[in-house]
Amino acid sequence: MQVFHHIRSMREALSEVRREGKRIGLVATMGNLHAAHLALVRQAQATCDCVVVSIFVNRLQFGLNEDWDKYPRTLNEDTAKLAAIGCDFLFCPEETEMYPNGMDGQTRVIVPTMTDILCGASRPGHFEGVTTVVAKLFNIIEPDEAVFGIKDFQQLAVIRRMVEDLRFPVQITAGEIVRAEDGLALSSRNSFLDEDERPRASQLYKSLRWVEAQILEGRRDYMTLADEAAEQLEAAGFKVDYMSIRHSRTLMPAAHDDREVTILGAMYTRGARLIDNISMQVPAGTLEE
Ligand code: PAJ
Repeated sequence: MQVFHHIRSMREALSEVRREGKRIGLVATMGNLHAAHLALVRQAQATCDCVVVSIFVNRLQFGLNEDWDKYPRTLNEDTAKLAAIGCDFLFCPEETEMYPNGMDGQTRVIVPTMTDILCGASRPGHFEGVTTVVAKLFNIIEPDEAVFGIKDFQQLAVIRRMVEDLRFPVQITAGEIVRAEDGLALSSRNSFLDEDERPRASQLYKSLRWVEAQILEGRRDYMTLADEAAEQLEAAGFKVDYMSIRHSRTLMPAAHDDREVTILGAMYTRGARLIDNISMQVPAGTLEE
C-alpha cells in the first residue's frame, strides 16, 4: 500500500491509475479504523480496481465543545490494518494541506435541506463541515465510486443530495451497519464508554428494534412510540438527544401512510454521543384498521 500525505503526489499516482482505465473507489474516514471501516473497504474492492482510503480528522465538522482534540488517532495501527486487507492507497493529509487558508474564511459547501434536523439540530454546522471536506476529497481523488456507511444515515442522505446538486460524477454506495455481538453499532467513539456503561449502551439498538416490532404489529402513533423508546433509554441511564421515526428519503417526520421509514436515535453517554438507526418497510394495515 502506498501512503500519501500531499495532494500533489496523491493526484499524480491517481492520474496514472486512471490512464490505465481503472475504476477508483474512495472510503473516507477519520481513522481509528474498526471492522465497519474495513467492511466498507472490502465493499469498494469488490467493484473497484483501485481503492483509496482517506484518514483525516476534520476539525470543521466538530463543534467547539466537541471531541476533536480527544478523537482517537491511531495512524500506525490503521495503516497496518489497511495494508493487511490489500488497500491500494492511503491518503492522510495534514490540516494545512486540506485547509490552506485556515478554517475561518474557508469556502464551504452547504446543503440547505435535511441538515438542521436530527443530528444537525444538536450539532450546528456539523454537516456543513462534512460536505465541505467530502467535496474536497471528491475534487482531490475524483473517485468513480465512494462508499459511506448507513450507520450515519443522515450523513449519507446529505452527501447524496450534495452529489446530485453539484453534479459530482461519483456513484455513492451504502455500506450496511456493522455491530458488536450485543447489537451496539461499531464506532470509534465506543472507546469513550465506561466499563459500566458499555453493557447498557446496546439499549439504543434494542429500543430501535422495539420500535420496529411495534410498527410491524400495526402501531402508527409514531410520536408516542418514539417517546416511549426515549423513556427506555432514559431508564437505562442515558440522556436522549432524539428518537424519531422519519420518511427514509426525505427525513421528514413519518406520516401514517408512509411505506419506507427509518427509526433514528441519538443518545449521550458520559463520554460520548452515540447514534444508530433502522430502516424498514411498513406493512399496509394498522391496529385500528
Ligand atoms: P468516520 O466516523 O470515520 O466514518 C467513516 C465511514 O465509516 C462513514 O461512511 C461511516 O458511516 C462508516 N461507519 C462508521 N461506523 C460504521 C458502522 N458501525 N457500520 C457501518 N458503517 C460505519 O463519517 C465520517 O468518518 C466523517 O464524517 C467523514 C465522512 C470521513 C467526513 O469527515
